[in-house]
Parts: sequence; C-alpha cells; structure tokens
Amino acid sequence: MAKVKAAVFASGSGSNFEAMMQAGELPCEIALLVCDKPGAGVVDRAARLNVPVYESSPKQFADKAAFEKDLVGKLREAGIEWIFLAGYMRLIGPVLLGAYEGRILNIHPSLLPDYPGADGIGDAFRAGAEVTGVTIHYVDAGMDTGPVIAQREVEIMSDDTIDSLAERIHKVEHVLYPEVIRKLIIEE
Ligand code: GRF
Repeated sequence: MAKVKAAVFASGSGSNFEAMMQAGELPCEIALLVCDKPGAGVVDRAARLNVPVYESSPKQFADKAAFEKDLVGKLREAGIEWIFLAGYMRLIGPVLLGAYEGRILNIHPSLLPDYPGADGIGDAFRAGAEVTGVTIHYVDAGMDTGPVIAQREVEIMSDDTIDSLAERIHKVEHVLYPEVIRKLIIEE
C-alpha cells in the first residue's frame, strides 16, 4: 500500500527537514517541500534529497487568503494529507487551517507555553532559565499555541552560550520530530 503523503513547510536552513529525510523508515512519504523564502538553505537540501519544491511567497498574491488558497490547491494536487512545519516563520491562516484541520504539526525550540515566538532559544537563555527544551504541537491560529503532543527537556548549563545551547536543542529536535511522526501516523 502506498504511504500517506506529507509536506514540510520551512523558511530557513532546513536541518529538521533533512533529519526527517535521513531518519530511516517513516510511515509517510515527504512528497513536497514548501518554502516561502527565496534562496533559503532548505531549498538546496531538497534538491540534494530529490524532494520536489514549491516556492511561494505571500508577496505574489493579493492577500494571505489568496496565498493559502493557492497552496491548498498545490497540496491537494500532490495528494498531501499531513503538513509538518519545520522552521516555517509564518502564522497559518484560516484557509490552510480549514483544509488541514488537525493535520498540521509544528516544532518549537522551548517547552511551550514558555518562550513562544521567533527566538525561543535566545529568550530562554536570556531569561536565565535552567531548563528549556523542544515541543511538538498541533497548529492552531495562534503563535505556538496549539495542543502539545510531545516535549523533551534540555538543560541549560552554566557555561552554555546561545550557540552551544542551540546545538543541543537541534540534536533533540532531529530525533523527536521523526519519533512523533512515526507514532502519530501509525496510530491514525
Ligand atoms: C528549529 O529550531 C525549530 O524548532 C524552529 O525553527 C528552527 C528551524 O531550524 N521552529 P531548521 O531550519 O530546521 O534548521
């Protein structure tokens, strides 16, 4: 039987996207990469890993609804059933949420609800937290607010820099996202 198809949405380097691709057997096929930032590193990774890319930016459309309507068309055409956000720096609007209700996941580098937003690692570090971590959650209309699926703690050491902390957090992310995908999609 053919596997269900998933799309990864990313705006940046794409290390989580690559970790998913290299994670060994997943219960779904990563059949499309959606990128909203021309020239983002993730696009080169997708080319190297032979994953089709759809580059699209809201600037090309009249408004966010039109941008998302076009995306939904593309996703449907490609038979996509799940969306995994991995460093996608944009809120998901009602058009995409409506089309993929309960089927959009996000990874965030903190223990939500602590430190939501664009710089979860830096915010925890600057706040002097002793523990932070990684969260995988369902996506809703808010910023990093949907129901939590899994969390893993990462200790902040006294000699950490933001870079050393980020490196440990990313290592945890690269294991946790494939783990959650395996569990969720098999349990469907
Ligand atoms: C990750 O830290 C993820 O948690 C956050 O954005 C970062 C993306 O990193 N949402 P990468 O592009 O996967 O390397």
